[in-house]
Amino acid sequence: MTEQQSRPREIVLGVAGGIAAYKACEVLRRLREAGHHVQVVATRAALEFIGAATFEALSGRPVLSGVFENVYDVEHVALGRRAELVVLVPATADLLARMAQGRADDLLTSTLLTARCPVLAAPAMHTEMWEHPATVDNVATLRRRGTIVLEPASGRLTGADTGPGRLPEPAEIAEFARLLLEWGAVTDGEPFPLPRDLEGRRVVVSAGGTAEPLDPVRTLGNRSSGRQGYALARVAAQRGAEVTLVAGTTADLDPPAAVELRRVQTTREMRDAVLDAAKAADVVVMAAAVSDFRPAALSVGKIKKGDEPPSIPLEFNPDILRELVTEDVPRRLVVGFAAETGDEHGSVLDYARAKLERKGCDLLVVNAVGVGRAFEVEDNEGWLLGADGTSEPLPMGSKAALAARVWDAVAERLR
Ligand code: CTP
Repeated sequence: MTEQQSRPREIVLGVAGGIAAYKACEVLRRLREAGHHVQVVATRAALEFIGAATFEALSGRPVLSGVFENVYDVEHVALGRRAELVVLVPATADLLARMAQGRADDLLTSTLLTARCPVLAAPAMHTEMWEHPATVDNVATLRRRGTIVLEPASGRLTGADTGPGRLPEPAEIAEFARLLLEWGAVTDGEPFPLPRDLEGRRVVVSAGGTAEPLDPVRTLGNRSSGRQGYALARVAAQRGAEVTLVAGTTADLDPPAAVELRRVQTTREMRDAVLDAAKAADVVVMAAAVSDFRPAALSVGKIKKGDEPPSIPLEFNPDILRELVTEDVPRRLVVGFAAETGDEHGSVLDYARAKLERKGCDLLVVNAVGVGRAFEVEDNEGWLLGADGTSEPLPMGSKAALAARVWDAVAERLR
């Protein structure tokens, strides 16, 4: 990330009146920890749910709510003009409706009318309200104008009901906020880097590592956290795709909103899950770090220490990417990942080009690896190589930013 991108930013956190308002505190904490200045603008109803003191302690600023407070500062204009990002947590059905109509009946909606920066709305409401034609129309209107209205998560809502309408996890909202601060802009109604250009597309993403059992207690695995695959899945879902995420072993990650998650352990399980989901897919992205080998035999009992360390015969696992490109099915776009190191015989890119040809995929995301790079870290950098000979550098940035670049390249090829 450049110095310009990592400097503290002016963010307006708009909080509307819904029970999920308490999660805005967690989003606020994350934005502050990232070093940003956050001005909370709460609706009157929001302050029925959360006391101003909580927001004030976390933001270090007074909470603003009414248009008749600090009138001498012309706050309802100044706030929007100053903001580099507006994040709405939760965006209730009522707030979305007022935004779609262009109302300016309180400080938050007035601020939204004057803001020219990216606006990220994280909805939370009951499923019936989310699915009501009025809300569907309002969301469509707002998206057409360039507002990023996130797909809500599915799951437990207030009370006993479940379904789409749950607020995406605060960590996920903060990740999208960071992505928009890195290179977010609205041009001709297209919100970069989260346009709805994957609507109607089905995508499969694999993530994490695989673990091959050796005996009842040991596995042969790798250190992949799954963060890159999760970021790919979450960005695709918010660009409108129907996403299946096949996750192997991962760090403790929140499931992305609006994504179907299938958990697997071994390479063979991952192969079956990926090939099954791929049947109806337009795109498959193999971001998983797949184990090439597995123990030739699974020991029924725990392998004992003995006098000598045991030698463990291995056998090859299936190559999922290879099967995807050779399968006799209508052609779909296949994206591979390669973690490479250079040596005296060739550079990282030499090895990556050779791998792209060997694997036969359409795009290859190349990460330069070494101790402390790419694996188990928050940020990534690399190149995106196309089978058509194209090569694009992927600058250092968040895994969501890398994911957005990959989806840009995919969307361009699907067009
Ligand atoms: N991959 C796969 N099945 C495997 C191994 C790898 O689908 N059994 C996929 C990975 O998900 C990744 C790509 O292939 O998208 C490249 O992975 P990598 O481990 O670098 O490939 P290998 O063929 O194992 O290359 P190397 O010879 O460098 O080990």
